[in-house]
Amino acid sequence: MQAIHIRKGKRFWRVAVLANIKDEDQPVPEGVPPDAFADFDTMETIEHIRAAIESDGHETTFLMADRTLPKTVQDYAPDICFNIAEGMGGDAREAQVPALLELLGIPYTGSRVLTNAISLDKTLTKRIWRDRRLPVAPFQEFLLGDEPLRPDLKFPLFVKPAREGTGMGVDSNAIVHNEQELRERVRWVIQTYQQPALVETFLSGREFTVGILGRPDAKLYSCHPEWYDKDGFHRFPVMELDSSRSVTPYVYSQAAKAKEVGEQGAPDYLCPASIEPELEKKLKHYAYRAHLVLGALDVSRTDIRLDEEGNPRLMEINTLPGLTPDYSDLCLQAKAEGIAYNDLILEILYLAAGRWGLLEPREVAPPLRRG
Ligand SMILES: Nc1ncnc2c1ncn2[C@@H]1O[C@H](COP(=O)(O)OP(=O)(O)OP(=O)(O)O)[C@@H](O)[C@H]1O
Ligand SMILES: [Mg+2]
Repeated sequence: MQAIHIRKGKRFWRVAVLANIKDEDQPVPEGVPPDAFADFDTMETIEHIRAAIESDGHETTFLMADRTLPKTVQDYAPDICFNIAEGMGGDAREAQVPALLELLGIPYTGSRVLTNAISLDKTLTKRIWRDRRLPVAPFQEFLLGDEPLRPDLKFPLFVKPAREGTGMGVDSNAIVHNEQELRERVRWVIQTYQQPALVETFLSGREFTVGILGRPDAKLYSCHPEWYDKDGFHRFPVMELDSSRSVTPYVYSQAAKAKEVGEQGAPDYLCPASIEPELEKKLKHYAYRAHLVLGALDVSRTDIRLDEEGNPRLMEINTLPGLTPDYSDLCLQAKAEGIAYNDLILEILYLAAGRWGLLEPREVAPPLRRG
């Protein structure tokens, strides 16, 4: 049973913002990859999220998503958590905080345990998408590094860690042209990141990312029901990442992602992308289906690239998309269509609050359906 807090006649929630923070002054500890923690957030991002939530009258605090969290979150006893925690270690770190909150019975924003665990694992994600006939590049996972390469995988190939984000383990050397380069890169990924290496056909075409917000009953809990299509989902404008002039040409790498928007060596972020309506429709449809079949909730961002024939191929889904204003892809997409940062953050909060029973629906909710 949730407590109801009232201030100046308005109901408000106690919201804990949960995240892992990177300390740029601290050297990366020995034994972990140099880009470990690249997907962690900064305190500035936390302050922006807190300010957005407080702008609607709620109370907020920040809690570090480390081993102190089981105690601090129970001490604070939030009505709901705004979760952007990437987690630490293990094979499904993005699912750690959701799992803890499920155990404690505390509501939180966004996707739940199973989806966050699967979507961190790019191989598992692609197996599920392939099973549901979504287009993915041919791929093979290497656990040891000396497995024979399947004959349907033709060079050039692309090698990346199976379970990282923010371009970790991805640079220009991820493109391999022959057996020797493949073996070297696969072994480097396995050893450095202590996880399987995912090898895919190199997708030589343009790159896009598509954000999705909502769910079938979104309009019942939304502050902006007008954002949503009839099916309850909002498709953000497609963004093209043009890396051709970036530090790592044609690869949206960790080094490229670390640059400020507009900085020398950063990719060009083009939103809305200049594409034919037919391609736009396809990309939005695939991102929506990608979200649905994985059981993602409320918000996600799917990365897609064209193959050499110009066919879209899904690369991965981010169920905890970055939320740094004027920097993260999803925030740039929202801005491109005039959605203010505060409104985006509050919408993610309200959709979750509705799902966890903190809000009354405007009418009877239709049952949630999986795609
Ligand atoms: N099969 C491929 N062919 C060509 N380029 C690829 C391929 N897979 C990945 N890339 C490049 O590497 C980048 C990072 O890959 P991907 O999006 O899978 O991982 P990520 O690091 O988890 O990304 P994010 O920061 O979105 O979490 C892509 O944006 C793309 O530029
Ligand atoms: Mg990506």
